[in-house]
Amino acid sequence: MNKLVKLSLAVLLLASVIAWYQPNFIYSTKSIHDFAAKFPGLVSFFKWFHGGKGSVAKTDHAVPKDGSSEPSEPTRVFTKEELAKYKGENGGDIYLALMGRVFDVTRGRDYYGPGGGYAFFSGVDGSRAFVTGDFKPEGLIDDITGLGSQDYIGLRDWLDFYMKDYESIGKLQGLFYDADGKTTQYYHDAQQWIKEASDYKEDEDLFKEKYPMCNVEYKPEEGSRVWCSTKSGGIQRDWVGFPRSLYSADSKNIRCACAQEADLNDSLLKEYPNCPKDAPSCMLPK
Ligand code: HEM
Repeated sequence: MNKLVKLSLAVLLLASVIAWYQPNFIYSTKSIHDFAAKFPGLVSFFKWFHGGKGSVAKTDHAVPKDGSSEPSEPTRVFTKEELAKYKGENGGDIYLALMGRVFDVTRGRDYYGPGGGYAFFSGVDGSRAFVTGDFKPEGLIDDITGLGSQDYIGLRDWLDFYMKDYESIGKLQGLFYDADGKTTQYYHDAQQWIKEASDYKEDEDLFKEKYPMCNVEYKPEEGSRVWCSTKSGGIQRDWVGFPRSLYSADSKNIRCACAQEADLNDSLLKEYPNCPKDAPSCMLPK
């Protein structure tokens, strides 16, 4: 989606949410962020908004998917105190760190400089806040332990974004790199969390392609009907499939899936009662 359309949509949606909850809200970037941080749903929306920004080709992640090799690296090592000097005060340079990598973001002064909407990221490693949306000082930390799978993917995408759009100028001595700029055990753990999240997402995407969701419609007098089409579940394909109940491996979740003939014997799939097995559409029991 083009940037202007995305931005207009973002502003419209956010403005309506804010107008709904707090009609007297002051519209500044800072207050929008403070407000947004209180609503997890908005943070998901932010992630979507910035999705295009971080997304690069699948094979081009700055964090190697297998954690094996490192792209060519700058050698300068910053301490936290040193990094804190680069907040762009008095027209000076602006640096920020993400997962221990220091980037020169001076040319993004409007965002990161004093008074900018993202000034809180300058001079620190606030990795965690990039995905939690918690921009308070206690949220702007480098510790990314215990986040969700989506968050690790978000961090991977933000790192891709900074590697692509800004210059990586050094390492930050701390959780990810030691005083010599060598990777720490924490760095390798983080790589592993990101790899696991990426693998999980890849498996999930493949599963969604194998068993796309059905179309559903509800009419009070008739009840719910499910059916398949070449676009159902948002998966464009050249087959339609047959509607089945799809059980998760632990049987806790059930959804309607479109299955191809070759997969109909999968034990996770169940036919709908009173619906012929080759019917393209089924009425659900009321
Ligand atoms: C977790 C929440 C968010 C984070 C961590 C975040 C972070 C950032 C960062 C770091 C930048 C600067 C990117 C650069 O260097 O080019 C940026 C830019 C921007 N952000 Fe956000 N943001 C968040 C939420 C939002 C929301 C909710 C909106 C809109 C309603 C928004 C609108 C913008 C806009 C318009 C820009 C400038 C984009 C451009 O010109 O490409 N952000 N954001």
